[in-house]
Amino acid sequence: MCTVGARCDPVMMRELGGPQSRDRVAGQVKHGLDTVRADGAWIRMIIPDGSAQVAGTVTVYPYEGISEIGWMILPEFQCRGLASEAVRAVLDLAQADGRWGLIHAFPSTTNAASNAICCSAGFSLVGQEETAFAGHIFQTNHWVFDPSAHAWPAGSSAA
Ligand SMILES: CC(C)(COP(=O)(O)OP(=O)(O)OC[C@H]1O[C@@H](n2cnc3c(N)ncnc32)[C@H](O)[C@@H]1OP(=O)(O)O)[C@@H](O)C(=O)NCCC(=O)NCCS
Repeated sequence: MCTVGARCDPVMMRELGGPQSRDRVAGQVKHGLDTVRADGAWIRMIIPDGSAQVAGTVTVYPYEGISEIGWMILPEFQCRGLASEAVRAVLDLAQADGRWGLIHAFPSTTNAASNAICCSAGFSLVGQEETAFAGHIFQTNHWVFDPSAHAWPAGSSAA
């Protein structure tokens, strides 16, 4: 599976409203590439040490006046700590870059792994809300990370 095909996969998209159509994903990929080329978003590929294969992505992008972060790891690479490490590395970059301001995440309340990532990466839980995504309404946790206020514990930086 690749990171584009993952968006059409029912297991990968279980917490995100189910699989999306190939046409919709193609449109998203084009929009994502255009935005990255214009330096309006980050799509960071996760490539494990010693591998030539992309294992997943961490994305930071502006949406409706705020900065959001999202992540995915392909099934064969899950449960190895890759998402946690990659999210922290991208938050380090955001801290150094300074452009994003507060960074928001809206994992579904039932997405245990994503909520664990938010918690261990230093996001603060500010509430629960309904979030619309891909034509579905989700009950989500609303997490916020403040790059300007965050200091990693000594020796724990992922950079
Ligand atoms: C969510 C996702 C990115 C996690 O990736 P991962 O590389 O397997 O995550 P990690 O191995 O870094 O684990 C992160 C944390 O979640 C926990 N975790 C991992 N899988 C879990 C599961 N199935 N249930 C509960 N906790 C889980 C880990 O123990 C770890 O917790 P810790 O930080 O307290 O140690 C991956 O499952 C995924 O891509 N899922 C499909 C797409 C998706 O849901 N994206 C996120 C939308 S908000």
